[in-house]
Amino acid sequence: MSKDTVFPDPADTLTVCTSVDELKKAIRNIRAGNQTIGFVPTMGALHEGHFSLIDIAKQKTDAVIVSIFVNPAQFGPNEDFDSYPRQLQEDVDACKKAGVDIVFAPDRDEMYDDSTYLSIKIDTLNDYMCGASRPGFFEGILLIVNKLFNLIEPDVAVFGQKDIQQIQIIRQMVKEFNHGVEIVAAPIQRANDGLALSSRNTYLTRDQRTVAPGLFRSLQYIEQQIISGVNEPKLLIEHQKDELEAKGFEIDYLNVFTEKTLSPVTTLSKDERYILAGAAYLGKTRLIDNILIEL
Ligand code: PAF
Repeated sequence: MSKDTVFPDPADTLTVCTSVDELKKAIRNIRAGNQTIGFVPTMGALHEGHFSLIDIAKQKTDAVIVSIFVNPAQFGPNEDFDSYPRQLQEDVDACKKAGVDIVFAPDRDEMYDDSTYLSIKIDTLNDYMCGASRPGFFEGILLIVNKLFNLIEPDVAVFGQKDIQQIQIIRQMVKEFNHGVEIVAAPIQRANDGLALSSRNTYLTRDQRTVAPGLFRSLQYIEQQIISGVNEPKLLIEHQKDELEAKGFEIDYLNVFTEKTLSPVTTLSKDERYILAGAAYLGKTRLIDNILIEL
C-alpha cells in the first residue's frame, strides 16, 4: 500500500491509514463525534487471539483502532524480523469483518527516522523472563507503544495475557508517563489441545506442532501442585524442565515470578499473586506461555 493513503472501504466501515497525518485526521473524526477509542496494537498475521482482543475493545469503547506494524526496534540481530509473517491484505479484510473502524499500517519510515537518539530505559522489570534472553526487546516495545499511545490517545488498549511481561512493563510506562489509557489484559486464547495461539506457531513443523502443547501441560501440572500446597516448587519445576527437554524442547526459562516485580521466587506465600511462566524453543520457534496464580 502506498504512503499517505486513507481509503474508506465501499461500505464506509473501515478506514485504512498508512501515514500519521491520515491517522490523525481519522481520529479527529471519531473524537468530533465524542466517541471513545479502543486500541489493539499488533504486528499483524492476525489470528483468533487478536480477534478476542478486538472484541474486548469493541465491548468497552465506541470505535476500535488496530495497528499493524512489524516493529524492527523489538527484534534482535539474530531474530526473525525478516521472516516474521506479513499478510496485510488478509489482515485488513479480517479487520473489516471484525468491525474494526481504523487500521493503521505504517511503513518503517513513517514510525522511525534515522536520527532517533532517545530510548526508554527499563529498570529491573526486564531482568528476568523474556527480558533476560532478549536484550533490547522491551525497550523496543516501549518505544513503539509510547509513540502509538501519543498518536492515538486511546481510552482503552487491549493486550494479550500471553505476553504478560509486556503488559506489566507497559502498565508501568502508562503510570510513570501519565498516559491516560486503561490497559486491559485479555485471557490467552488456545487451540483445542491447549497450545497458546501465536503468529509464530506457523513456523512449527507438523511434528513440532504435536509436541508444542507440552509447555502448557507442564505449566498446568506445576500449577496444580502449587494449588495443592507445594510452596517450594524448585524441584518440581526442574523435573518438568527435564520432561520437556526429553520431548525436544530447549528451555529458555520456566519458573514462578512475582506479579509485581517480575522476579523469580523460591518460597510462595498466601495472599500473593504469581506468574508461572515458561519460554522454550522447538527447533527455531520460541514458544511462551503463562498461568496467573493467586494463593
Ligand atoms: O504484542 C505485540 O504484538 C507487539 O509487541 C506490539 C505490542 C504490537 C508492539 O510492537
